[in-house]
Amino acid sequence: MTIFSMGYLRCSVGALIFLSFISLMLHLLLFWQLKPNQDHVRPQNLTILLWQWPFGVSYSLKGNVCWEMFSIPGCFLKDNQSMFSHADVVVFHHQELSNGCSMLPLHLPRPPRQRWIWLSLEPPLNNHNLSAFNGLFNWTMSYRSDADIFMPYGKLVAKKNTSTYFIPQKQNCLVAWVVSHYKDQQKRSKVYQQLRKHIPAELIEVYGHWTQRPLADKNLLSTISRCLFYLAFENSEHKDYITEKLWRNSLQAGSVPVVLGPPKSNYERLLPLDAFIHVDDFSSAKELAGFLQHLASDRKSYEAYFRWHDSHEVKTYTDWRERLCTICSNYHKLPMHKVYQDLYGWVNK
Ligand SMILES: *[C@@H]1O[C@H](CO)[C@@H](O)[C@H](O)[C@H]1NC(C)=O
Ligand SMILES: *[C@@H]1O[C@H](CO)[C@@H](O)[C@H](O)[C@H]1NC(C)=O
Ligand SMILES: *[C@@H]1O[C@H](CO)[C@@H](O)[C@H](O)[C@H]1NC(C)=O
Ligand SMILES: *[C@@H]1O[C@H](CO)[C@@H](O)[C@H](O)[C@H]1NC(C)=O
Ligand SMILES: *[C@@H]1O[C@H](CO)[C@@H](O)[C@H](O)[C@H]1NC(C)=O
Repeated sequence: MTIFSMGYLRCSVGALIFLSFISLMLHLLLFWQLKPNQDHVRPQNLTILLWQWPFGVSYSLKGNVCWEMFSIPGCFLKDNQSMFSHADVVVFHHQELSNGCSMLPLHLPRPPRQRWIWLSLEPPLNNHNLSAFNGLFNWTMSYRSDADIFMPYGKLVAKKNTSTYFIPQKQNCLVAWVVSHYKDQQKRSKVYQQLRKHIPAELIEVYGHWTQRPLADKNLLSTISRCLFYLAFENSEHKDYITEKLWRNSLQAGSVPVVLGPPKSNYERLLPLDAFIHVDDFSSAKELAGFLQHLASDRKSYEAYFRWHDSHEVKTYTDWRERLCTICSNYHKLPMHKVYQDLYGWVNK
């Protein structure tokens, strides 16, 4: 090694140490700069303003609702529009915007940090006038798993302790269905009409407005639980559109769900395979009816549909306050800068 190359080596080691030092300093600097920024992302306390109660039904916001009812800290729900300039997040439920019951506060100066949330748990066919709202919302809240705030109708959660589940006592009822807005052209109606041709009428119980056999909410689960199967048929088929018909009417009642809605793979992401029966698995209503009758006579196979109950239970979301409080628990995960330029396209994709 020549003196020159030794010098070069020493120099490059020196340069390396120097560069490492600079880089360390830069990282430290960035770290200190980022820290206050992170606090900015999630202020200690968040004020969530609900612009209009969904479907005109209001709930009390007395006290610290998110903390007292749902153990979510630092989350303050408001429904007084005069809080607009103080709100970190303003939530707009689409129904009231599209039917003119409520208007966006476009005339008010919008605080730069404030985010607007578009909220709807309805399927696309119930969301009208969407393109009028392009370019205004930062986040979406919907039953869709790809929404910024995913708000399903229900989900399975692990039980704290596993415990044996007792299947409710069954009576002479093979299939139950609750339907209010029956429409001939809907797929669920067609499947039902086919199905009833292959099942004795006395084994089918249909409740709701359509058959003029209304079921009071307090009697819903006990009535359905007497039946072996429940038709958890959605009114329209869309990705992730799986409603209380599955979670409450069927799984919570203790009746095996026969589902019609999005494809089977969509249900499989939310439920074990042996928790439900998907209509797409059958080439005809006759075959489906035959399968249900077979299970009715094969107790062991039927009971297998309840195995998941030992380790899991259903959690449903029904209280709008709880749904709104989850905005705070999700806040740190939400994208900082986002605008829905094509809300219509997003909802209908
Ligand atoms: C957050 O809210 C709590 C409860 O109202 C209050 O005691 C606390 O001072 C607030 N923190 C900030 C930073 O505003
Ligand atoms: C909303 O807030 C304003 C200003 O604080 C107050 O005057 C008004 O009474 C509130 N409205 C309701 C319905 O509480
Ligand atoms: C769309 O909004 C207009 C008001 O801007 C309203 O008159 C109309 O009824 C709405 N259409 C639908 C389908 O909701
Ligand atoms: C769950 O099991 C543990 C240990 O067996 C017990 O201490 C606890 O009380 C149980 N919790 C419930 C909710 O049953
Ligand atoms: C929120 O949306 C509004 C309206 O499009 C936009 O002007 C604003 O920059 C967005 N805010 C953030 C933080 O992305």
